[in-house]
Amino acid sequence: MFKIAVLPGDGIGTEIVPEAQKVLKAVAKRFKHEFAFTEALVGGAAIDEVGVPLPEETLALCKDSDAVLLGAIGGPKWDNLPAALRPEAAALLALRKELGLYANLRPAYLFPELVHASSLKPDIIEGVDLLVVRELTGGLYFGEKRREKLLGGERAIDVLEYSTYEIERIVRLACEAARKRRKKVTSVDKANVLESSRLWREVANRVALEYPDVEFSHMYVDNCAMQLIRNPRQFDVIVTENMFGDILTDEASMLTGSLGMLPSASIGGKVGMYEPSHGSAPDIAGQGKANPLATILSAAMMLRYSFDLEQEALAVEQAVREVLAEGYRTPDITEPDQKLVNTREMGDLVARKVEEVEV
Ligand code: NAD
Ligand code: IPM
Ligand code: MN
Repeated sequence: MFKIAVLPGDGIGTEIVPEAQKVLKAVAKRFKHEFAFTEALVGGAAIDEVGVPLPEETLALCKDSDAVLLGAIGGPKWDNLPAALRPEAAALLALRKELGLYANLRPAYLFPELVHASSLKPDIIEGVDLLVVRELTGGLYFGEKRREKLLGGERAIDVLEYSTYEIERIVRLACEAARKRRKKVTSVDKANVLESSRLWREVANRVALEYPDVEFSHMYVDNCAMQLIRNPRQFDVIVTENMFGDILTDEASMLTGSLGMLPSASIGGKVGMYEPSHGSAPDIAGQGKANPLATILSAAMMLRYSFDLEQEALAVEQAVREVLAEGYRTPDITEPDQKLVNTREMGDLVARKVEEVEV
């Protein structure tokens, strides 16, 4: 039996998470596993219910589970809270830190069926299959933050720091991932300006020596942002620090057609956490328009990385492919002559397909 903590969170989180659960239930049925789901409060929803964004019970439940399935956290209602209560930092970042999830895997894979769904030209994005390995528990997000009074104003300070150990483990993880792929790693930094990036580059070069079979190179982050759009097929694995990875993956999601297609796995600790790369999408929340596929594909990553159920993960990915091939689309990836479906219908279609798909 696998224990799964289910944290829908805010906005479309409450719409997409049940669809991923539906798909996991279909996996359990077909492959004869038992998944025990326990739902808990997190984010703005938890503030509204119990006054804090990460209740102790929620954290305890996550630590006691085999994996966490998370929707999204945050929204306009909680944007003006003091820093200590803001759900993004006090719940999401705290969960990542508490669970020791230093590596965030964000695969940008273009399902061939979606080659016309992107705003980018088909000949640019055809065949895109890259993996961003984002450092998740260091950098600006976790450095000291403070304000100082100045005459006639204030100064705000966010500290960006990285240690040898933090860089080593993430670069090593990226090299290991590359060994299972096309054996190419691009380390992305801003070493022409930042001291933390210069250390990153030195350490990365040392780690790369341990992987002579992996082609290792460096790229500045501004260039990388451009290269992702100019020629995305040049990339296999990109490894980068926390904030660069955040920004580059929203960009990379458009190579796959939509931010609603980009899953993620946060690993490195005892309990992995699986969530779509996108947020709570307040602009479409409550309307059944959200694409649940990023969350469903994150659940597939849970099967692969936390439960070592590769066959089952492939079944979910294949089910998604077949549903797309049959022409079903949520609004974010819709094209003329396709069958427009809502969040729930997309979840139903994939769950049904999981039960019959060939693997
Ligand atoms: P967002 O990712 O929520 O939305 C950006 C755009 O993408 C919106 O137009 C939205 O409608 C669209 N979009 C996102 N997911 C989609 C999906 N599954 N299907 C279809 N369209 C989708 O980013 P934002 O608007 O900048 O942030 C909204 C809130 O979410 C903020 O409070 C932010 O802090 C939070 N956020 C949370 C997470 C997280 O929990 N991991 C990630 C990013 C943002
Ligand atoms: C993400 C989100 C978070 C991040 C925010 C909400 C803290 O944008 O998961 O990509 O920046 O890590
Ligand atoms: Mn983000």
